[in-house]
Amino acid sequence: MDIVEIRDLALAEVCSADSHTKLEEARVALLGRKGRITTMLRSLGELPKDQRPIVGAQVNEAKRSIEEAIAIRREELDTISSNTRKLDAVDITLPGRTQHRGSLHPVSQTFNAIEEIFVSSGYNVVYGPEIEDDYHNFEALNIPEHHPARAMHDTFYLTDGMVLRTHTSPVQVRTMESQNPPIRIICPGRVYRRDFDRTHTPMFHQVEGLVVDKGISFAELKGTVTSFIEAFFERKVDLRFRPSYFPFTEPSAEVDVMGEDGWSEVMGCGVVHPNVLSMSGIDPEEYSGFAFGFGVDRLAMLKFGVTDLRVLFDNDIRFLRQFG
Ligand code: DAH
Repeated sequence: MDIVEIRDLALAEVCSADSHTKLEEARVALLGRKGRITTMLRSLGELPKDQRPIVGAQVNEAKRSIEEAIAIRREELDTISSNTRKLDAVDITLPGRTQHRGSLHPVSQTFNAIEEIFVSSGYNVVYGPEIEDDYHNFEALNIPEHHPARAMHDTFYLTDGMVLRTHTSPVQVRTMESQNPPIRIICPGRVYRRDFDRTHTPMFHQVEGLVVDKGISFAELKGTVTSFIEAFFERKVDLRFRPSYFPFTEPSAEVDVMGEDGWSEVMGCGVVHPNVLSMSGIDPEEYSGFAFGFGVDRLAMLKFGVTDLRVLFDNDIRFLRQFG
C-alpha cells in the first residue's frame, strides 16, 4: 500500500468516527506511540538513503492532514452533542407550568369593601395603636377597673399597664380627644384576645364606627347599619336589632343577620354614653353620637361561606387561590 492510500483510509476512518470515543480510538491507532503513521515515521531509517527524504516528506504530509481532519471532526462532534443536549432540555411531554396570579387575602378584600362603602358616604378612615394603654382600651370607654366587662375581654396584658387592644373602640376615644365634632369615622385594625377555637383566634380584625354631631339618635344608627349591611352583602338582608349591653353605649343593641343557618350576630352598636363623650372632652349636652363595632373576619366568613375562622389565618395557598 502506498502512502497516499494509507492516508486516504486513515482520513475515512477519522471522518466516519461517530463519537468522541471512536475518534480517540482512531487517533491512537494512527498517531499514538504504536500507531500506523508513527511506526512508518520511525521505520524511515530502514529505507535506502536516497528515498528517505521523499517518503519522509510524504508521511509527514499525511500525518499533518490526519491531525487536521481529527481536529475538524472533534469540533463537529462537539456541535452535534451540544445540539442534542439542547433538544433534550425541552421535554415536550411534560405538563405545562401554570403561572398563578397573586391576589388579595379575603380579609383584605373584605376590609377594602367595607372602607369603600363608608368612604363613599363621607367617613374618614383612622387608625390607632395595637399596643394600647388601659385608659383608652377600658377606662375612657366607661369600663372602670373591676367592671365585669373587663373579664369578658380575655385581655393580653403587657407590662406598665399596657395591653394588646381587645377592640378597636379605643380609636374612637383617641379621635374624640383630638378632633371636634362633626366626627364621622371608621377605624379598621387588628385586635387581640386570649381565645382560640373554630370561631375565635387570638388575633382578629375589627372595624369600629363613630358618628358625633348635633342631634344624632338611634334612628341614624339604624339607618346607617342597615344600608351598610345591604351594601356589603349586595342584597336585601333580614336584619334585627336585639337589645344588649355595652358600657360605652346606652341604649345598646346587637345586630343579627338572617343567613342559611338562621340568625347570626354581626355587630354591636348603640348611642354613645354621655360619660364617654365627656371623658374625651365633648359636651354631651350639645352633641350626641352613635357607635358600632364588628368583626371583619366574621363578615368575610358569612360573605364567602367559610365555616372555620382559622383557615383565614393558615395561609394555605390552596385556600387563598379560591379568592383570586
Ligand atoms: N367593642 C365591642 C367589642 O369588641 C364592639 C362594639 C359594641 C363597639 C358596641 C361599639 C359598640 O362601638 O357601640 O365587642
